[in-house]
Order: sequence, then C-alpha cells, then structure tokens
Amino acid sequence: MAHNNVISCLLLAQLLLLVVQIGAKVPAIIVFGDSSVDAGNNNQISTILKSNFKPYGRDFIGGKPTGRFSNGRIPPDFISEAFGVKPTVPAYLDPMYGISDFATGVCFASAGTGYDNATSDVLSVIPLWKELQYYKDYQKKLRRYLGDKKANETLSEALYLMSLGTNDFLENYYTFSGRPSKFSVGQYEDFLIGIAGNFITELHGLGARKVSLGGLPPMGCLPLERTTNFMTGSVCVEEYNNVAREFNGKLQGLILKLNSELQGIKVVYSNPFDIMLDIIQNPSSFGFEDAAVACCATGMFEMGYMCDRLNPFTCTDANKYIFWDSFHPTEKTNKIISDHVVKNCLSVFL
Ligand SMILES: *[C@@H]1O[C@H](CO)[C@@H](O)[C@H](O)[C@H]1NC(C)=O
Ligand SMILES: *[C@@H]1O[C@H](CO)[C@@H](O)[C@H](O)[C@H]1NC(C)=O
Repeated sequence: MAHNNVISCLLLAQLLLLVVQIGAKVPAIIVFGDSSVDAGNNNQISTILKSNFKPYGRDFIGGKPTGRFSNGRIPPDFISEAFGVKPTVPAYLDPMYGISDFATGVCFASAGTGYDNATSDVLSVIPLWKELQYYKDYQKKLRRYLGDKKANETLSEALYLMSLGTNDFLENYYTFSGRPSKFSVGQYEDFLIGIAGNFITELHGLGARKVSLGGLPPMGCLPLERTTNFMTGSVCVEEYNNVAREFNGKLQGLILKLNSELQGIKVVYSNPFDIMLDIIQNPSSFGFEDAAVACCATGMFEMGYMCDRLNPFTCTDANKYIFWDSFHPTEKTNKIISDHVVKNCLSVFL
C-alpha cells in the first residue's frame, strides 16, 4: 500500500508539473518598437542610426556589439528569460538567425522609429507599418516550419511586446516644425493613439492575443534633454515629462477600449515611467552613482557613431550609471525596469 502511495504521489507531482507547464504558456516573445527594444535590425538597413560597434555590447554575451543600444541586454531579453523562453531575442533581419530561432522569439523593432510615418523618415529607419509587413512574412515562414496548427497556436499564445513613441516627440514633434504646424501636442498624442489602436486591432486580426503596450519613459530626464536644458540647471525638462504622463493616460484609455472590443485579447499596460523616475530621483538606492550623465564619452550628447571606442572619456563601470548613452539605459537599468514590468504588469501571462 505504501508503495502504491509513493507511485501516486509521483504521478501527482508529474501531473502538477504538467499543469504548471501548460499554465506557463508563452512559447515565443514577439517584439515591435524602437531602439528601446531593437536587437539589431538597423544593422541591415541604410541609416546612420546604428550601434553595432564597440563599446556598445561590451557587457553582452561574448562582449559582442549586436546593434542593441546598450552595453548589454535590453528589456525583451530579460522578459524572455523571465518567461523561461530564452536569454536573448534575435533581430528578424539578422542573417545569423533563421526560422528555427525565430519560432521562440523574434524582434521587428527599429531604432529611431515611431508610431508616425514621418518619424521613421527622419533617420530612414523601418516604419511601424513595415514592422507589421515583416511580421506577416514571419507568419508564413512559421506556418511552413511548424505546420498550420502548431504555428497558429504559437502565434496566439505568444507574448507581443510593443515599445515606442519617444522618438515621435523628441526626434520629430519637438525637432521639426512640420507636425506642430499641423497638430497641437494634444492632437498629436491623439493621432499617435489612433495609430497604436489600429496597429493592435490589425495584430489581433492576425492572431495575437497577449499584448504588452509600453508607456513612454520620463523622456525629459534623458541626458540629451538635460544637456539641452543645461542653461536652466540641468534638471529634467518638465514639459516633456508632462507630455509623457498625458500620453500614457491616453494609452491606458485605449487599452480599456481594445480589451472590451477585441474578442479574446488581453492588452496590458507596461509602465516604465514611475520606476524610471524613481531610479533617476534616487539613484543611490538602486546602486547608481550618476543619474544626469551617461557612461559613454562625455555622457551628455553622444549616441550611435559619436559613442565609439576611440572616445577616451567612456566610463569603466557602466553599472554605476543609469544611462549608457545620452538616450539609452545601461543593462543594469534595463534589468531593473524589466523585473519591475514582469512583476507588476506581465505576471498575468506567467
Ligand atoms: C503610413 O504609411 C503607410 C505606407 O505608405 C500607409 O499605408 C499608412 O496609411 C500610413 N499611416 C498613416 C497614419 O498615415
Ligand atoms: C491557422 O490560421 C489561419 C489564419 O487565421 C487560418 O486561415 C487557418 O485555417 C488556421 N489553420 C489551422 C489548422 O488552425
């Protein structure tokens, strides 16, 4: 009898494990957005906005500059790892990878892009609508690779991460006069929200069911903006932070609407704003020494080609810095933000 009990306990344990495995059902991470999540798609296109050279990637696996805009991994990598999928999510255009890699995660993001087509035009990067074209192309390849049934299952159980919008304001609206002459900032926000809504609706039509929509960071606190604001004391540009807050409020309204209108979808708002502002305002409590300038070069305005290995001023320990270049967080900051988002926003999908 005792023997039988042991066997049933083992069976029960196996059953429980099976239930846990079925419950934790995110077979793939699929990424859309800008440099906050680009794993190297810009390496393969004609743009000056690239980061596939040292010192980018110096703390990445193998010290490799992949085209990620950081010294190491970026949020989709950490999120994929937290979901037990894999430690890095490869770029769709990277010729080193194929459909067998992309079946468990793929990144369509392009640094410099935005919701607005005019934003991607600024630095000739991949517009959001084209990221979706690549995704459709990917669906075809996945169906050939896994078969229709299994591919459809993967596409509907996958977690879709979207992170963009900062460039629409900083690279486009506040840099060129084209958009401000057409839209007030509030109207521009509504225009972008409309595009986000159409995008997710189309994604839903293509089979997506689990979507994380990222809010804007406190974009007035990026070193580049603080440098530009130097004359007034190098504090964060409140105007930009307020636009981010307002836009994020509208994103949450959109998410409520999409969740009630689109059958079977679950869109989650992933908010990096509060945690990032907390880090910037209390750097030492997160183990950072510097919040205002970046590790790379002078830390005030360099990114991309201006942040290269020949620059003698780059810091030696990126872990002391919140920002890697004037626009992008260090790997350590990316990890803190990702852990926060997984725990507080994405845990419904775990
Ligand atoms: C962006 O460009 C694409 C391709 O030309 C077009 O289909 C789409 O309607 C444009 N989006 C907006 C919001 O104008
Ligand atoms: C897979 O999804 C496509 C597109 O929604 C659909 O046309 C096809 O019938 C599905 N196939 C299976 C086997 O579920």
